Amino acid sequence: MAIDDYSQRRYLRWTTGERIQHWILAISFFVLGITGFALKFPESWWAWPFRITGSFDLRGLLHRIAATFYIALSLYHLAYLVFTQRGRAQWRELKPRLRDLLDLKSQVLYNLGWLRVRPKYGHYTYWEKMEYWALVWGTVIMVLTGLALWFENISLRIFPLWVLDVATVIHYYEAILATAAILVWHFYFVIFDPLVYPLNTSMISGSLTQEQMEEEHAEELEKLAEMEEEESEGPIDLLKSEKEDVVRGVSV
Ligand code: HEM
Repeated sequence: MAIDDYSQRRYLRWTTGERIQHWILAISFFVLGITGFALKFPESWWAWPFRITGSFDLRGLLHRIAATFYIALSLYHLAYLVFTQRGRAQWRELKPRLRDLLDLKSQVLYNLGWLRVRPKYGHYTYWEKMEYWALVWGTVIMVLTGLALWFENISLRIFPLWVLDVATVIHYYEAILATAAILVWHFYFVIFDPLVYPLNTSMISGSLTQEQMEEEHAEELEKLAEMEEEESEGPIDLLKSEKEDVVRGVSV
């Protein structure tokens, strides 16, 4: 597939604000990963930039600065989901449903060649939702354990020392899991999947092509077509639900 194709009709996937959220998340996560593993393995060859500062601990400082951005972004994202109309519609689309399990089953059967018709997905596929919820869960763990390590004095006034030792172990193993999830899982779906290779550029352009919609969000595309047909037939119903407004809003 061409890296980006503006000859086709395009469908808005992410607003500018959502893309900014994604890139703040990506940059702060990257800095947290590099500085975190440099804290754990200070003698490794790739950690050399952090050694040139001598006694000054650049790793710890950058880790805490990136963590502040990460936590602020997480709180902003929560407020976005609660207080904005588009955020609430995103939340409705992201909520886990029984349908996701059925989709997973159909996709596995299809991949095995036991189902002829490829499953059709709405705004989010079940694997996108799984990734989102894994990120939410991982963030809760990293923030709680990270803050316990950061404010060691306060933690030790509340908990015995072994709790802090356990928090350190959890923080470290969750860091490995989260980094592996990004490198293997996320990068597969947005880069290495043969259907999207060399890159799903929607986090840059904000939109998907007709072809990409047909491949991964065929059900949403059908819904949009139905709505457009209804609108062309008569007056637009101004009392349409919020959900519909946002789905309609995705077409550019
Ligand atoms: C977002 C909230 C986070 C906070 C508040 C936080 C905070 C901390 C703190 C205070 C330390 C100890 C630093 C020191 O010894 O100077 C630490 C260590 C570490 N962090 Fe984070 N961190 C966060 C997220 C992350 C993430 C997302 C990763 C990796 C993807 C990560 C990876 C690590 C690693 C590998 C260590 C070293 C653990 C060890 O020594 O066993 N952290 N973190």
